[in-house]
Amino acid sequence: MKSQTLASLSNLSCRHALAWGGVITGVLCWSMPNPALSASVAEDLIAQTRPLVIGHRGFPQFAPENTLPSFHLAKIAGADLIELDYHVTRDGAMIVCHDGTVDRTTDATKRWGGSNLRIADKTLAELRELDAGSWFHPPYPNTHLPTLEEALEEIQNGNVTLIERKAGSAAQCLELLRKKKLINAVVIQSFDWDYIADCHRLAPEQVLGVLGPTRLKDWNPTEEEKVLSPRWLDEAKKRGALLAVWNQNVTRTAVAYAHQIGLKVWVYTINDSATADKLLDMGVDGIITNNTSLIWRTMALRTRR
Ligand code: G3P
Ligand code: CA
Repeated sequence: MKSQTLASLSNLSCRHALAWGGVITGVLCWSMPNPALSASVAEDLIAQTRPLVIGHRGFPQFAPENTLPSFHLAKIAGADLIELDYHVTRDGAMIVCHDGTVDRTTDATKRWGGSNLRIADKTLAELRELDAGSWFHPPYPNTHLPTLEEALEEIQNGNVTLIERKAGSAAQCLELLRKKKLINAVVIQSFDWDYIADCHRLAPEQVLGVLGPTRLKDWNPTEEEKVLSPRWLDEAKKRGALLAVWNQNVTRTAVAYAHQIGLKVWVYTINDSATADKLLDMGVDGIITNNTSLIWRTMALRTRR
């Protein structure tokens, strides 16, 4: 009974949030072109002068992260892009999941026993058996780990994917994008800046983002050096990135420098209005969030200042 009540309350808040998102998105976006209708979607999108709202792993506030229902909700809430993470299975398939293991977001430990069950040790067929929706509250029945291809089909039907590579080669990802005619209809990002440099070499037209802070071959940054700085931005540009995607450790000066050299700055993962406001004041170009509706609301309220 108690869980039923909680489930309906949660659904109520979900509907409330999505209604807010829908209204605000409508107010803010009515005059903007639908990027999905343009030939170079990703380029057009990042060229926008307003900040973008990016659904982190879909809409994980109200649906199990990195699943098709989560991506669908983020679309309804009006995200400009929808972020996902992918790994590679033992038999070489690209599958969507944040962690390198399936313990946290599926029923794998209950089903198979043990722990630390790595995606890289399992086949696609094995991983597809897993239930990726029952751990969530309220549960999402019949929800599985999507392949990267399935996720792209869901998101690109009206939206733009921000693909984060956790494992796998640039060539494999680009081959899928070429097959599906999605080069530059998506954005690719990674904490592995060599992977981004490989993407740039193989598909120079593809819009790319470097995630940071990270560790580079010849630079293991100290705590102070982890703040976004001209040095990071110059390194990002050398690798062909158009976006520096950073945690909250950014400054107004660094954002201004990024703009001066033709880069945009997106920040992750921002789930409260006060932090979003502070970062928007610094001039960031995109907010990656678990709650797309909340960030839209924050942006709408700023127009009344
Ligand atoms: O999109 C940025 C963010 O997803 C990076 O961190 O750990 O959530 O993949 P993580
Ligand atoms: Ca991610």
